[in-house]
Amino acid sequence: MDLLIKQSDALTGEVTVPGDKSISHRAVIFGSLAEGVSEFSNFLMGEDCLATLKALSDMGVKCSINGSKITIHGVGLRGLKPPTKSLNLGNSGTSARLLLGLLGAQKFNSNIKGDKSLSNRPMNRVMDPLRKMGMEFFSRNGKLPINILGNESLNEINYELTVPSAQVKSAIIIASIFANKNSKITENHVTRDHTERMMLAMNYPIFSDRDSISIEPGGKFDAINFQIPGDFSSSVFLIVACLISKNSSITIKNVGINPTRIGFLEIAKRMGADIKILNKKNLNKEPTADIQVISSVLRSIDLNDRNLTSSAIDEFPAIFILAAFAKGKSSFDGLNELRVKESDRIKSMAINLEKLGIEVSEHENGIAITGGVMKGGEIECFDDHRVAMSFAAAGNSSKAKILIKDADSIITSFPEFVQKMRQINSLIEIK
Ligand code: S3P
Repeated sequence: MDLLIKQSDALTGEVTVPGDKSISHRAVIFGSLAEGVSEFSNFLMGEDCLATLKALSDMGVKCSINGSKITIHGVGLRGLKPPTKSLNLGNSGTSARLLLGLLGAQKFNSNIKGDKSLSNRPMNRVMDPLRKMGMEFFSRNGKLPINILGNESLNEINYELTVPSAQVKSAIIIASIFANKNSKITENHVTRDHTERMMLAMNYPIFSDRDSISIEPGGKFDAINFQIPGDFSSSVFLIVACLISKNSSITIKNVGINPTRIGFLEIAKRMGADIKILNKKNLNKEPTADIQVISSVLRSIDLNDRNLTSSAIDEFPAIFILAAFAKGKSSFDGLNELRVKESDRIKSMAINLEKLGIEVSEHENGIAITGGVMKGGEIECFDDHRVAMSFAAAGNSSKAKILIKDADSIITSFPEFVQKMRQINSLIEIK
């Protein structure tokens, strides 16, 4: 599937975005470990979350889907069954990393594999701490496919996170549920805390403060009825499209605004963005709100702040588009994690921005982008959903049409992207 976007007159309207991807993954995992039947509404039916759902069904968990609601019949902490084949996790890093923490603690052996992009992503960051707890993994170069030897008797861990990653933290938390004694994790930078929040919402004994988390092993997950908020990261593509378009004003309803996720708001505001957060509420320990956005005149930014970076980690492709439309030269540093996402996002964005006539200079941990006039042209996505959607946002304001080649990856996180863009009057077509 290719996408063609041309400049629109004005983006307007009210829209919702599909459920949060991170929370949807955790819903499947903790719903499966619960005692009783849980229901999660507004579940993200994207390929990544469906990969986690398929993996748990392959281990005997009964799940049913009705519209965007999933019902999960929990099997308790020790109720998973050995899968009969390798678990295929597609493009999903979150599935791979979180499930390593779960699979290593089972009474059976298993194997996980993924697509080309996932098979190139680093897994030692998760396997190293999990091995300290007694888990056993076999892989080539620390990458998928990985064979997992189950071990039901795990040691506790006292671990300081060396990589600022919620996936690593969550894998260790999940493993700690199966350890012999209490475990403790310390982190020096903010990472998303959906794991901790959902465990608390299901009454699991986990305790966290600003920079440390302790987990009691062998607790119980109560079944839950949970409404998943809209995915803030998905809403960002609509926000960026609106900010850079003339005479535009949109409202995105019921979006998750967990403080560990909204670094983008601070960055965009520093660049001059007019964004308002309205109607705040709490849904099962996750804050949500409506986001109102108005076209803005943007200025450049110098950014090198690890906490802000970490709480905006998925938003940088979209932030680079803001920089391309801003006045002046922006510089971004401390972004080494972007090199190991679904694609090397510094490189993917630099190559495409240059094609569209934007001056960029890439360095090891970051990029400088000089705002200017964006021409039209053809974009390569490198199988990365967020690269594809960032340039689709840009196409609303570029001088000529942008054609995004092979944009199928958007179904991993935002299957209704084209429909939602059209709902706010974007001139986007599937080719
Ligand atoms: C995620 C954590 C982040 C993020 C990813 C989802 C999660 O990855 O980029 O899209 O759900 O825990 P890292 O943990 O690698 O930063």
